[in-house]
Amino acid sequence: MNVRSYLSQLTTVRSRPQQVICRNWEERSRILQHDVNLFCWTRSLAEPVILYLEERMQEPLQPVRCPVERKGLSRQLSAARAVWENTGSQEGDLFWKDVQNITHDFLDFSKDGTGILHLKVVADDACSKFHVDGYRLRLFTSYIGPGTEWLPEDAVNRYALGTTNEQIVKKPTRSQRMGTGHVGILKGEIPNQNQSTRGIVHRSPPLQETGQRRLILRVDIA
Ligand SMILES: [Fe+2]
Repeated sequence: MNVRSYLSQLTTVRSRPQQVICRNWEERSRILQHDVNLFCWTRSLAEPVILYLEERMQEPLQPVRCPVERKGLSRQLSAARAVWENTGSQEGDLFWKDVQNITHDFLDFSKDGTGILHLKVVADDACSKFHVDGYRLRLFTSYIGPGTEWLPEDAVNRYALGTTNEQIVKKPTRSQRMGTGHVGILKGEIPNQNQSTRGIVHRSPPLQETGQRRLILRVDIA
C-alpha cells in the first residue's frame, strides 16, 4: 500500500465526532454509533431528590467506590446507601432508585455487565484541563452543581491536548456545559486500540472561585 492510499484509508476510517443532545433516554444507544462520542440526556431532577441530596451534603459524605454488576445492582447499591445513612426516607428511595435505573441501563453497554461506580462530593477544580479519558464508555451526572464541560469538534485543537486550555480551545464561546441532573454517556479512547472515532474532549467545571460543590455519579466500563 502506498502512502497516499494509506492516508486516504485513515481519513475514511475516523469520522468527525458528533454529539447527541437529547430529551429522550431511550435513544441512549446512539452513543454506539461510530461517529458519536457523547450522548447527553437533558432531563430535570425531581425536587425531592434535590432536597434529599442538599440535606445529605450538610454533613461530610464518604465517597462511594464499588464494582457494580447488572444482576446484583440492587444489593450493591443498598450497601453503598448504608455508608451514607442509617434511616431510610422516601426522598432517599427516589435518589437511590434513580442511580440504580441509569446505572442498570448503562451497564447494558458493558460486554460482561460490570463497571466501577463512583459517587462523591467534589469541591475542587479536579480535572480543569480539557482532556480525553482512557476508558471505553463513562456514565456521568452531576446531581448537585454544574456538569461536565465539553468541546464540539470545531472548537478543539486535538494536536494541543496535553498543553494548555488556551491552546486546546480554538473557540471558547463554543464550549458547552452539561446541566445539573443531565446524564451523559462519554466515549473515551483506550490507548493502542483502533477506534472509529475520537473520545470526547472535556473537563471538570471550575469550582474554586465560586465556592460551589458538586455531587457526582460516575460509572466506567472498560
Ligand atoms: Fe475526564
